Amino acid sequence: MTLILKDKAALRAWRAALPAGQKLAFVATMGALHAGHVSLMEQARQAADLVIVSIFVNPLQFGPNEDLSRYPRPLEADLARLEAAGVDALFLPSVADMYPEGASTFVDESMVSLPLCGAERPGHFRGVATVVLKLFNLVQPHVALFGQKDAQQCAVIERMVRDLDVPVEIRRGAIVREADGLALSSRNIYLSPADRAEAPLIYQSLRAVEAAYRAGEHDAEKLAALGLAELAKSERIVPQYWEVRDPESLGVIAKVGSRGALLAVAAQLGTTRLIDNLLLVPAIAASADRLADC
Ligand code: PAF
Repeated sequence: MTLILKDKAALRAWRAALPAGQKLAFVATMGALHAGHVSLMEQARQAADLVIVSIFVNPLQFGPNEDLSRYPRPLEADLARLEAAGVDALFLPSVADMYPEGASTFVDESMVSLPLCGAERPGHFRGVATVVLKLFNLVQPHVALFGQKDAQQCAVIERMVRDLDVPVEIRRGAIVREADGLALSSRNIYLSPADRAEAPLIYQSLRAVEAAYRAGEHDAEKLAALGLAELAKSERIVPQYWEVRDPESLGVIAKVGSRGALLAVAAQLGTTRLIDNLLLVPAIAASADRLADC
């Protein structure tokens, strides 16, 4: 049975009563849970004795013209998923509880949050970092899991945790995809049937660039241009960016070298903004990993 903690006071009381030796894993969400979230919950279960999930549609990370008011909030279905995944507790605070009147302190990561989605959505990562630090302070988890689909969000949170000495281990969960390659996202339900039919092209563009890289093309600009050319096969997809970046700093690179690269794409399909990414791992590192696994 998933215990519902409706405010900070209830969460603090629950947290304070946990036995000291129990390891706690945390999955922060905005609800509209899908198989990607469930896979994070399963990894959380493997990592710890107890699992807590938060559902909080964080107004601070939405821009003025974004989808805050229409963001899906299917609470009954979410509760059923939490129960089925054996989640111990759900933190379900209100906006007023999370942001007291006059709140004026924010977390600004000032490097990895700037390019890509940071440039397209000013203030977004400030909102994410602020709410995630608040959640960490409240939940005090030993481990927290975030989905690799939001690779830049993962990078911002990892930086924040490192730079501000937050005592939590961050783990990334692999992207979960539909059979046709579309990365799972709570926003996929907005796609019209026609847009949904073309959405897998985003992942196909990533795979095409990966294939070009494996065939010997290492020039970042050429690889990105190839990705954009793949997306241009659809008239419905309007790209926001298609970039080949350093996998950690997300800085611009001229060539894909020994550190590999993050292929990152954002595109608009109708009224829906989709993001996806793929890590290019150099063959030497990939085969060393395989050897280590043996
Ligand atoms: O990835 C999300 O759902 C949100 O950005 C997060 C991490 C829950 C913060 O609101």
